[in-house]
Amino acid sequence: MPSRSEDRVAALRHAAFSCATAPIFVATVLGTVLASILAIAGEEIPFLGPSRVPASAFPKFDRPVANIISPIWGTEEERDAADGVGQVVRWLGISSTMTVADIGAGSGYYTVRLSPIVGPNGRVIAEDVRADYLQGLRQRVRDLGLKNVVIGLGEPHDPRLPSGSIYVAILVHAYHEIAQPYALLYNLAPALKSGGRIGIVDATKKTLEHGTPPTLLRCELASVGYQEIGFHPLSGSDTYLAIFATPSVSGRPEPESVTVCKE
Ligand SMILES: C[S@@+](CC[C@H](N)C(=O)[O-])C[C@H]1O[C@@H](n2cnc3c(N)ncnc32)[C@H](O)[C@@H]1O
Repeated sequence: MPSRSEDRVAALRHAAFSCATAPIFVATVLGTVLASILAIAGEEIPFLGPSRVPASAFPKFDRPVANIISPIWGTEEERDAADGVGQVVRWLGISSTMTVADIGAGSGYYTVRLSPIVGPNGRVIAEDVRADYLQGLRQRVRDLGLKNVVIGLGEPHDPRLPSGSIYVAILVHAYHEIAQPYALLYNLAPALKSGGRIGIVDATKKTLEHGTPPTLLRCELASVGYQEIGFHPLSGSDTYLAIFATPSVSGRPEPESVTVCKE
């Protein structure tokens, strides 16, 4: 028969275990409820990679950020006529077997065109912060039977992509809408393979007019350790493609020492 002191030890152990497990239990229940709500609203889109550095680790930046207003920039017919995809693919050297991330994929204008270019042994990771846009894109990808497209949800400060998984990341008409650009760029870098690069397409307008002035873009990318390796006005539009080499994880500055740029 257990003694009184053994009873007390058992009671204390039980209390300590409850304290340790209660938050896990609550988080699990909340997670299940959230997952059910998302499942009712549509199909759940997962994060593909780990959570990295929070936005609060970076200095506060104060330049305007455009609102998210649409999952697509311009009509597909007009964009096809201008062949922006062809120009971006050539300048970035995107080819068969590559894994390419389409950050801010929206309704997938670039995703569905890159899929046949990277081919069956390559992959397109389509990422966005809007689960509703991604659900539409998932349906589009299914309808087209594209087997090499993976769809992942991101956060405004973190695309949540797997480490070392990507050769090239593109951000097409999305940069001016990124609410936490320093954190997003910082957290994107580990997802790129060594020698990886990112291509940013945007209009030469102010951010609130849904563009990014090239001087602002260069300043912000340099602040996080990215090095500009190409800049190409795209024919058929008032847009440009800026290409940057991605810093290694250790080549990035400390988050709190990132220099804040003005528009
Ligand atoms: C104007 S749409 C462009 C969509 C597509 N890239 C295209 O060229 O048609 C901008 C997209 O960027 C997405 N976006 C905005 N902020 C983002 C962020 N922090 N991370 C990922 N995507 C973001 C929006 O949800 C939207 O789908």
